[in-house]
Amino acid sequence: MATIHSLPVLMRVVSASLTLAKRAGQIIKDVQTSGTSLDIVDKGHNDPQTKADRASQQLIISNLTKHFPQLTIRGEENIPIEKSAATSDIDELIRSNLNEVLQAKCPNEFQDLQEKDLVVWVDPLDGTREFTEGRLEGVTVLIGFATKGNAIGGIIHQPFYINGNESGRSVWGLVHSGVYGKCQMNSTPLPGRIVAGSLSHRSKTVVDAVNACQPTEVLQAGGCGYKALLVLERRVHAYVHASRGCSLWDTCAPEAVLKAAGGMLTDVFGKGISYLPTDDTSVKTGVLATMENHEWYAQQIREKITML
Ligand SMILES: *[C@@H]1O[C@H](CO)[C@@H](O)[C@H](O)[C@H]1NC(C)=O
Ligand SMILES: *[C@@H]1O[C@H](CO)[C@@H](O)[C@H](O)[C@H]1NC(C)=O
Repeated sequence: MATIHSLPVLMRVVSASLTLAKRAGQIIKDVQTSGTSLDIVDKGHNDPQTKADRASQQLIISNLTKHFPQLTIRGEENIPIEKSAATSDIDELIRSNLNEVLQAKCPNEFQDLQEKDLVVWVDPLDGTREFTEGRLEGVTVLIGFATKGNAIGGIIHQPFYINGNESGRSVWGLVHSGVYGKCQMNSTPLPGRIVAGSLSHRSKTVVDAVNACQPTEVLQAGGCGYKALLVLERRVHAYVHASRGCSLWDTCAPEAVLKAAGGMLTDVFGKGISYLPTDDTSVKTGVLATMENHEWYAQQIREKITML
């Protein structure tokens, strides 16, 4: 095997990030099972959601910052990062999941990317509401990679995934390479038009956008990462969320994974999202994700809604 130092930077960063996402997932599980009652909705520092969110963010960001100092890393700003905290050995972080990562070939156009060209968008615990309310399959750890404003790679780690005796999974992808990890494409064609979205949202626009897509069924599910997995695995036809509530760290990894599989994630009007590291990290025009017929959904929404 080639020495890890001769690998393209992107592959080293993805491999270390995959290790960190899996470890962060383990921490989230540990917090959840540590006996702290899940019906605490106290927003103090000791409620399980805050604890899991902080520990996960600390683990991912401290380690990436230490070992890849020139990366631009963006995560939820409200969590302070201790710069001096102990970190793992870099070779170990990269090697732990290298065999899995080397299933992917680094696309030619990314071979020479430098650390400073990469922006990493981290959501240490996507689906916080699902976590608090015990709908645990909706919880994911998201690490997305962007360059020149485009999402090019992403990791969606789902710590509470259960399939037989397997527990936890990571699905990750690189655009122009493919999607890897444990994803299970639904092999039977989906009937009708199933939309992951909300019909009970307090915002009328959110509901109008779902209805504009003429769904035969609406699946209420939480978490951007989880809904992207539903689209990827063809359990729904589309994921529609016409609200200003998403952030770039919610959408970067999902967009990259879907793109790597031949799907799309844009704003609800079908316009691409920019992942340049500007100060404004919110996605103001919502999210639309599909594997097929993306433009049709965007068109239906544009006909009914003009702004969020
Ligand atoms: C860095 O990652 C390792 C796990 O690989 C973890 O034990 C360590 O606590 C992390 N560092 C921080 C500051 O979270
Ligand atoms: C999970 O179950 C399968 C078949 O039921 C078995 O072959 C496999 O070894 C099991 N894996 C683990 C980690 O227990």
